[in-house]
Amino acid sequence: MATNDHKSIILGVTGCIGAYKAADLCSKLTQSSYDVHVVMTSNAMKLVGELTFQTLSRNRVISSLWDSPEWEPRHTSLADKCALLVVAPCTASMMAKLAYGIADDALSTLALAHDGALMIAPAMNPRMWRHPAVQQNVSILKQRGAIFIEPGTGVVACGDYGTGRLEDIPVILEKINEFMKNHK
Ligand SMILES: Cc1cc2nc3c(=O)[nH]c(=O)nc-3n(C[C@H](O)[C@H](O)[C@H](O)COP(=O)(O)O)c2cc1C
Repeated sequence: MATNDHKSIILGVTGCIGAYKAADLCSKLTQSSYDVHVVMTSNAMKLVGELTFQTLSRNRVISSLWDSPEWEPRHTSLADKCALLVVAPCTASMMAKLAYGIADDALSTLALAHDGALMIAPAMNPRMWRHPAVQQNVSILKQRGAIFIEPGTGVVACGDYGTGRLEDIPVILEKINEFMKNHK
């Protein structure tokens, strides 16, 4: 049996143009024998289909607080079960919600119910990334112990050059493996 069997991870996917890359991350995590539970925002679902993540994770995707099939709300049951919540890619908007404890969708609500580790891989236009509001939210989250996978530098989807693109999936995967290996 692979050592990652039954190690559960929540993968939060938000409305970034790089959301399609999260499908590759999801696939690689499943192939590494993690039990992956994907939580998508409604904006992420405008960019990538829920069915893609459902198929790759082999688990039902959570996209709403209101579609729980069991008696137990899934945002709390999943939060209890998983040591790590990875938000990749994370929008500027979701970082603001995470920094200020806003819980108005399934992912941000689950994040408040989750007392395990939070890993964030931001992705956005370089001007958004440089904005003081975004940088302040990054500082708040870092002070609170969130693990950041800093965005890379290069040409972003809109053609601008700078820092803001989602870090490469192999790097994110390595950080997750490192965390899960050390997590007791
Ligand atoms: C095509 C498209 C691409 C976008 N890409 C990004 C992005 O890479 N990063 C980001 O922070 N916002 C991006 N946005 C804006 C977010 O989708 C928007 O702020 C949204 O409210 C975020 O919602 P969510 O965090 O609930 O997913 C994009 C919007 C569109 C229409």
